[in-house]
Amino acid sequence: MGIVGNLNPEQLQAFHSQGFLVIDSFSSPEEIDGMRKQMDQLLDEFNSSTVSIFSTKNQKKLTDDYFYESAEKISFFFEEKAFDDNGNLKQPKQLSINKVGHALHEFDPVFSKLSRSEKISSLFSSLGYKRPVIMQSMYIFKQPGIGGEVVPHQDNSFIYTDPPSCTGLWLALEDATIVNGCLWAIPGSHKNGLVRRFYRNEEGVHFDRPSPDYDQKQFVPLEVKAGSLVVIHGDLIHQSFENQSPKSRHALSLHIVDTEGCKWAPDNWIRRKVEPEPLYNS
Ligand code: FE2
Repeated sequence: MGIVGNLNPEQLQAFHSQGFLVIDSFSSPEEIDGMRKQMDQLLDEFNSSTVSIFSTKNQKKLTDDYFYESAEKISFFFEEKAFDDNGNLKQPKQLSINKVGHALHEFDPVFSKLSRSEKISSLFSSLGYKRPVIMQSMYIFKQPGIGGEVVPHQDNSFIYTDPPSCTGLWLALEDATIVNGCLWAIPGSHKNGLVRRFYRNEEGVHFDRPSPDYDQKQFVPLEVKAGSLVVIHGDLIHQSFENQSPKSRHALSLHIVDTEGCKWAPDNWIRRKVEPEPLYNS
């Protein structure tokens, strides 16, 4: 209650026409520094003998319990290329992790503070959300040299409500450029609806149909400075390439749905034992 929107009409218009919006200086350098230091500490405490590789290409690897249980935990996923032929890490664990997820926003005080901040709630108020709930959070490293690609997708495929209501927030914790693997998106592609779904059943997780072939010429790079926030419509087609550069590209991503007027799909991969607290309830 009492949440006032913080997007101006031009920003809303840009979001609705392009399917994404870049907000510069959304997070202060101190806020970014706090999150990066907190992640350094989480990594130091992490025992890297627990191995789970994250890949958007090889879905079989996603079917293990480690992945499912990460919906309600802080879990660590390695880059595919982090290991040598004998299964040993080629570099320190700090440079081998693809991402940490998917409930940092609930179980870590630093990430929870940002996730539940007034500026995030206000953003969802501007977008017309009645009862927004953060369904997942990911700290993405895009490690130098081995940071894996993320193939073209729509976030509504993975986090589905009826009707679809997912909005992604992507906060740059370092400058993101074409060189170190920034986001790329097809402007306006959110207007063509959801192409396919990623669902979970007894056999594991699957897509319900193959990915269309996208024309790479339609994608535009979203190069942003550290502290910039990219707001991503759930139907926007977006991707990022492998990071072959010597510079990492850290980012924090949150995915939010409306739980008022939109029904959470029971066959989503995320199955919560405890329903997450909404950001607000209007
Ligand atoms: Fe995405």
